[in-house]
Amino acid sequence: MAALRCCFAGSSAVGGGFFKPSSRRGWCAPAVAAPSREAGPGSSLGERTRVDFPVLHQEFNGAKLVYFDNGATSQKPSSVMETLDEYYRSYNSNVHRGIHALSAKATDAYETARRKVANFINAADSREIVFTRNATEAINLVAYSWGLSNLKLGDEIVLTVAEHHSAIVPWQFVSQKTGATLKYAGLTKEEVPDIEQLKGLLSNKTKIVVVHHVSNVLGSMLPVEEIVEWSNKVGAKVLVDACQSVPHMPVDVQKLGADFLVASSHKMCGPTGVGFLYGKFEILSSMEPFLGGGEMIADVFPDKSTYAEPPSRFEAGTPAIGEAIGLGAAIDYLSCIGMDKIYEYERELGTYLYKSLISVPKVQIYGPALSQADHRAPLCSFNVENFHPTDIAEILDLEHSVAIRSGHHCAQILHRTLGIHASARASLHFYNTKEEVDVFIDALKTTIDFFTPEH
Ligand SMILES: Cc1ncc(COP(=O)(O)O)c(C=O)c1O
Repeated sequence: MAALRCCFAGSSAVGGGFFKPSSRRGWCAPAVAAPSREAGPGSSLGERTRVDFPVLHQEFNGAKLVYFDNGATSQKPSSVMETLDEYYRSYNSNVHRGIHALSAKATDAYETARRKVANFINAADSREIVFTRNATEAINLVAYSWGLSNLKLGDEIVLTVAEHHSAIVPWQFVSQKTGATLKYAGLTKEEVPDIEQLKGLLSNKTKIVVVHHVSNVLGSMLPVEEIVEWSNKVGAKVLVDACQSVPHMPVDVQKLGADFLVASSHKMCGPTGVGFLYGKFEILSSMEPFLGGGEMIADVFPDKSTYAEPPSRFEAGTPAIGEAIGLGAAIDYLSCIGMDKIYEYERELGTYLYKSLISVPKVQIYGPALSQADHRAPLCSFNVENFHPTDIAEILDLEHSVAIRSGHHCAQILHRTLGIHASARASLHFYNTKEEVDVFIDALKTTIDFFTPEH
């Protein structure tokens, strides 16, 4: 397994990045230009880290790529790609099955990755981490395995209108099968989820509360600790969708107190195809399996089977081994920088983005105003008067090489609540810079000017 390469906390590493360049360049290197300059002393976290991300150093039609679609997926540092490459080249093997050296090494690396995830979110025990395909599958796992056995007619599932479809649709399936009802908290006039309304929805009928930690559209953060306290008082479990918090800030599951928490590797600089479910061990132990197959059993008889303890009970079949190990490498990378540093830098960058964007005439940003938000994630969902967001995104891409998202961002209920069908979204990560924000704002202004009739 690739050893954790040297990390230079707070200072620039060889070549300006956080990891020494690989001594072995056997993998098929993408056709990218080398970073134009090395980050010098006093440079920002973005400048220091972006050298580690080959994909960022590209030009399209003569314009440097500005990647502002990190809410959808993050880019991957070389160390993650090298870890994947090393796994497939030197110890690809199935886990938990073979006694040969390759299988032992793969099993060790896979279980080490599980421990890295557990440490990263401060789980009490690595058996509380179940590898899934992504966050969506982790939510489905809870909906089916916990929901089908614990919900019945008359029970209530409480959510907010700002949830991602991944956190809504699985509960609709389960409510249709069990007769449980979905109850939604709306938005305040400040365009944040109304937590007083959410509190008012809680009663002894509530069996589970499903909430995001940070909204992928509004950029706001929910007070999860308080929601857990209120929910536990009425005997309800809490599932936290932490897809947009785990990659950007320190997250401590013991402090939050949530029963379940989910996140996706691909949004946290890791590979696609893997995500995780955190669940309190006693709750996981009480749950039925999600999928049946190899690995999740204790004993199999002709008419029935007994099941393995968690987490194996929920990992039927061959898992995404290399990808889980790659997620471990991503966690090493993020931890080397430090999640506090990432949070601090992104807060500054997000503020810069918000202030720059709000100053563009005809732009409306959704979610809390900067001055009213305790936390505003480094993302802005917005519309420009008289423009369709998809046109904006397309012109920024074609003319300026600025990659942003447009659409409903898998949050149709939220968009309808805001009175719109779609929005554009610029979402940043720690390897972005203020200079890139300037490029985005200039490109947006040029686009608006060009299509404004007086021109
Ligand atoms: C808040 C939130 N929840 C859930 C998801 C679903 O993540 P995945 O598609 O990786 O399962 C996303 C992805 O956009 C998200 O932003």
